[in-house]
Amino acid sequence: MAKAKTAYVCNQCGAEYNKWQGQCEACGAWNTLSEFVVTPASAGAVKRSGYAGAIAQAKIVPLTDVAADAEVRTIVGIGELDRVLGGGLVAGSVVLVGGDPGIGKSTLLLQVLGALGARLKSLYVSGEESLAQIAARAQRLGLPLEPLRCLAETCIERIVEIAQKDTPRVLVIDSIQTIWTETLTAAPGSVSQVRESAARLVRFAKEAGTSVFLVGHVTKEGGIAGPRVLEHMVDAVLYFEGEVGSRFRILRAFKNRFGAVNELGVFAMSDKGLREVPNPSAIFLSAHTGPTPGSAVMVTREGTRPLLVEVQALVDQSSLGNPRRVTLGLEANRLAMLLAVLHRHGGAAVYDQDVFVNIVGGIRVQETAADLPVLLAVLSSFRDRPLPEKLVTFGEVGLSGEIRPVPNGEERLKEAATHGFLKAIVPKANAPKKGKMGEMEIVAVERLSDALTAVL
Ligand code: TYD
Ligand code: MG
Repeated sequence: MAKAKTAYVCNQCGAEYNKWQGQCEACGAWNTLSEFVVTPASAGAVKRSGYAGAIAQAKIVPLTDVAADAEVRTIVGIGELDRVLGGGLVAGSVVLVGGDPGIGKSTLLLQVLGALGARLKSLYVSGEESLAQIAARAQRLGLPLEPLRCLAETCIERIVEIAQKDTPRVLVIDSIQTIWTETLTAAPGSVSQVRESAARLVRFAKEAGTSVFLVGHVTKEGGIAGPRVLEHMVDAVLYFEGEVGSRFRILRAFKNRFGAVNELGVFAMSDKGLREVPNPSAIFLSAHTGPTPGSAVMVTREGTRPLLVEVQALVDQSSLGNPRRVTLGLEANRLAMLLAVLHRHGGAAVYDQDVFVNIVGGIRVQETAADLPVLLAVLSSFRDRPLPEKLVTFGEVGLSGEIRPVPNGEERLKEAATHGFLKAIVPKANAPKKGKMGEMEIVAVERLSDALTAVL
């Protein structure tokens, strides 16, 4: 095989150099060169790989003539993870699990291998912890120890060689930032090392049909290992998130070639590791004793699951010339727009007020169904009057003050009804004809002003 060569490629303009240099001559950017492996394909290698033959025979086929491979899925046995994966682990898939240090990635994956047990042969490759540490953790988690087989190794060539001989069906790499390849001189953890090692593992997964979990630490910018290099290469990206000081952990599918994105799994960290929270709908509501101004409950949808969350707003006289608009868990531009609609169509002027909006529990709401609850919470705080108790709302607010329907209205209403809510304010097109759902009264609104008069 031809000897692998390395090249330095500018991250910004793609110019290629033989040697590292501080500044890219082509675009003038500083510190943008990363090292990459280039393997010149010799004629022999191409023939051996069968690629030349494949090209010679390539022809156009209608998809009806292509027999689709049925996905081979294994139910892991951790229900919340199986949901997020889209109904179990797909053979040969590569799943990247990202999250802040200490959030519980290693714990989760050790529990996954424990749950798979002897059903699928597994291998846990650790570059961060010693085997003794892993054994101690597995014992504390009460996992069966025989099926858990570990390897302390960080060189990708050796890992792949061992895995090819050992043929595990599930391979865990903890973490990808500690893995390095002999073909590059860059330090482990650098973008080129991470990318090259991950590419090697993706190839191994596809060749051997082994499912691979890659653990990735999140960088300061919030991406995994620099400029999101890994997210393009893998089949699924799961983010493990949680608030500081909270024991709840949320596993979120950010990309999934085999299932829905934005699907959520909820776990709670305990002294026996991660426990599933199979019915998390109400855990994001704060435990008020009575009604408080500035709080509204909405039903959002994360993936395929309705979720009750609380929206809190604080509106306060501003001492600044340019009052503050701060959002947590919500897009800031959206708030600015909603406040303008509130002024124009709701008759409440908050231009001299600081407005803070928070979605309780560290949840991020990206859908427009949050518009109406946000405005009701803002107005409730502004007027210092609480919304009625056991009230739930959702709906998109348009620029002309109209309330627009959102997807899956009925399912959202059902979820609220089962959690004992007594009144719902929803867009007209989302309301059932009979105006009630179980015990819950449903108020259908068409304009923002209708919604405001209905509650405040
Ligand atoms: P860990 O899985 O090591 O995090 P990561 O791999 O994402 O860096 O999780 C470590 C944290 O979890 C640590 O702060 C302790 C806590 N923990 C528990 O609370 N209970 C347990 O049973 C375990 C194993 C860990
Ligand atoms: Mg870890």
